[in-house]
This record gives sequence, structure tokens and C-alpha cells, in this order.
Amino acid sequence: MQKTTYTEIHSNILSWYKEHGRVTLPWRNSSSAYEIYLSEIMLQQTQVKTVLERFYFQFLEKFPTLKDVANAPVDDILKAWEGLGYYTRARNLHKTAQATKGKLPSTALELEKLSGIGKSTAHAVACFAFGESLPILDANVKRILHRFFALKERNDKTLWELAYRLFDQNNAYIYNQSMMDIGSLICKHKKPNCSVCPFESGCQGKANPLLYPEKKVKKSKPVRKRFMVIYHHNDLYALSQNETKLLGGLWAFEQVESFNTKEKNVTQLGDFVHHYTHFRLDATVLLVNENNKKREYFSFEQIENLALSGADRKALALLKGYIS
Ligand code: ADE
Repeated sequence: MQKTTYTEIHSNILSWYKEHGRVTLPWRNSSSAYEIYLSEIMLQQTQVKTVLERFYFQFLEKFPTLKDVANAPVDDILKAWEGLGYYTRARNLHKTAQATKGKLPSTALELEKLSGIGKSTAHAVACFAFGESLPILDANVKRILHRFFALKERNDKTLWELAYRLFDQNNAYIYNQSMMDIGSLICKHKKPNCSVCPFESGCQGKANPLLYPEKKVKKSKPVRKRFMVIYHHNDLYALSQNETKLLGGLWAFEQVESFNTKEKNVTQLGDFVHHYTHFRLDATVLLVNENNKKREYFSFEQIENLALSGADRKALALLKGYIS
């Protein structure tokens, strides 16, 4: 299909968006660059439903402006991010708020220099907040392009070229928002609904859309077996602040590879499994009665108000079950 004939598809998309686009999403009804940027960061690795129901409004209530983010301690940002996962996003949000002194630049070129803003997010924010005419390339858009151009190979350089080729530069805002909607509502991973798709007339992959893109070779995740040790003294429990890249800034119970569970002062609280992107944690949670001046101890109520990772929350739930 030649570029000139994309006109028909572009017009199909405009009509489709008018009728089916998710026009009520709050970040589509905001002219605040910060509110749009925040939505794009939250939506990088989290579904619209979760962001809408549990995080977006709550975060904006705590931090109504980017200046508020810049002025808050990073711990407060992490606390508001708790449960969303991928905490690097929260630390980068804080860095960006401080680096820009609460005022985002208005071009994709400048936005892309900031922590946590890759090319696609920079294009999305520049397009949605500042009217720049640039295509985006998130996971949904990639899937549409793979199928539209019957492209099996996963290659970002090729995908960016195709993203520019198919792009409607005269209606960038609607085109980009439509791509996100069509990707999540129609051109679905397992069950695409081609008969209602505005791309259908030009789609080269429609005869067998599941062929595109080629399947990733799935490596099974390595398993980390750990003891999660909750040191306990006078109704207080020990935590320390995590310094690893994955969970930096979050509060955590101690984790060790081996522990003598036969000691008198040890109680087994239970086991849980927690999935991270690159490994699986199989944890056994122990309550150990021991005072050590080097540790920082907190009451149960204080711990509930700290920013904890998902795995530490699971350990805390086991502790709660035991003490209540
Ligand atoms: N995912 C990323 N950005 C989005 C947006 N603006 N609307 C819906 N889903 C999205």
C-alpha cells in the first residue's frame, strides 16, 4: 500500500475515534503538562484500569503540581507509588521534577534528556501537552505496526521507521490516542477483532494476525529462595532502607539465603511466592526475637505507613495474621 492511500485509513481512524475513542480518560481532558506526563509514566508499565482506579487521582491529590513533587522527599513519592511497582519510575519522576524545577520543557528533544523519559514518552508528552506532531511507539503501537506491515522481526529501528510512515501528521493527537485505544481494545495480543478495525483495509497481516510479531523465546525465570527475617523486640520490628537498584528507597525486612530455623527464638510465619520481571522470589518468612542496637525498629502501625515493596507487604500480611 502506498503512502498516498493512507489518507483513507487516516480518515477511518478519525471517524473511529469520534465514536469509540476513550475520550473521557482524565489525562485526555487536561491541558496540564504535568498531569499528562504523570499519566504517561504511570501507564508505561501499568494498565489503564489500575492507574485510574488506584493511583492517578490519589497521586495528584498528594502532589497537585510538579513543584510539589520537587519539594517532597523522595520517600513520600515512593510511598504514593507503592503498589504500582517499577519504582525506578518514581525516583526518576522526582529527579525530573527537581531538574526542571517543576516546569517541563515543551519539546520532545528537551523532554527526552530527562530521567525516565524515553523517546516514545517524550513524543507522547510533546504531542498531548504541547501539540508537537510526532508518532509514538509503545507496546500497543508496536503490535499494530507488526501486523499492519506483516513484520515478524522485533526491531525498534525498523518499527520507528514504520511508525513515521503510517503516522497522520495532520492529526497527531487523535492518531496517537487512537493507536493506544485500537491496540488495547481491538488489535489485542491474543484475540484481535479485525472486522471492526479502522486499519483493516490496508492491514497486511489480517489473514493471520497472530503470526506477527514472532513469539519471544520464553526463558523461565530463575528462582531465588530466601528467608525473610523479621527481627522483633518489644512489639517493634526491624526494617532497613533498600539500596538495590530494583527497589532503592523502599523499606524492607532482612533477606538472607540461609538461616538456622531451629533456634528457640525463631517462629515460621509462612511462605509466599513473588514475581519480579527477571526472577521469582520463593520466600519463607521468619519472626526472630532479637534486639540489636544496629537495627532500626518500628511499630506495626509505623510500618504500615512506610513505602514497602510488594514482597515486603506479603511478609507484613503474614506478620499481621500472626499477631492479630
Ligand atoms: N498508555 C500510554 N499512554 C496512554 C494514553 N494517553 N491513553 C491510554 N493509554 C495509554
